[in-house]
Amino acid sequence: MTKPVLAKALVKVRGSRHVSTFHVMGEAPRVRSDFEPDDVALSRLHALAFGSTTFTVAPWGKRLRHHSLTWAGAFAGDELVAFVHVVWDGGVHGFLLDTVVHPSHQRQGLGRAVVAAAVRRARSAGCEWLHVDYESHLEAFYRDACGFRPTAAGLLRLS
Ligand SMILES: CC(C)(COP(=O)(O)OP(=O)(O)OC[C@H]1O[C@@H](n2cnc3c(N)ncnc32)[C@H](O)[C@@H]1OP(=O)(O)O)[C@@H](O)C(=O)NCCC(=O)NCCS
Repeated sequence: MTKPVLAKALVKVRGSRHVSTFHVMGEAPRVRSDFEPDDVALSRLHALAFGSTTFTVAPWGKRLRHHSLTWAGAFAGDELVAFVHVVWDGGVHGFLLDTVVHPSHQRQGLGRAVVAAAVRRARSAGCEWLHVDYESHLEAFYRDACGFRPTAAGLLRLS
């Protein structure tokens, strides 16, 4: 059975990019690891997931290739609708960052699926510990759905 998936139209308005969305019929999103990063698609997805309809393009590809051990995304057709990556100390510690799911695809298991894919890749690369931090309202996602256990941690703002 086909499930509705999201397609997006991207237009540039006065220097910033705006996203509008509409539904088309297609297959359920598929999870892929270490795909070729697309700076526009990743910047757009992050903006949408955090409630913005405008975004500037960040150098995601460069960041991921230089600093991340692995990344995973879910694609509805060619469209990136979920993403997460793991930065690495080169040893046994990884840190999960930037978990995002397109608002129209949330609560369908995609967040859990991309985190699980990243966990598998980190484990097979030799990571023994995977860290994450999150706000308290996401405890059910990270702890119950993804299996992270609570721990004391610290955060220092540097700017
Ligand atoms: C947090 C986020 C990544 C979750 O992705 P998702 O695909 O919607 O999550 P899943 O469908 O895999 O959720 C699995 C379970 O986790 C829990 N869960 C997921 N999102 C939750 C939320 N926002 N609040 C509370 N519990 C949540 C639920 O128990 C859910 O199961 P259910 O839908 O059967 O109740 C997504 O909501 C998102 O992109 N949020 C905005 C960006 C953000 O805050 N990212 C986190 C940065 S640390």
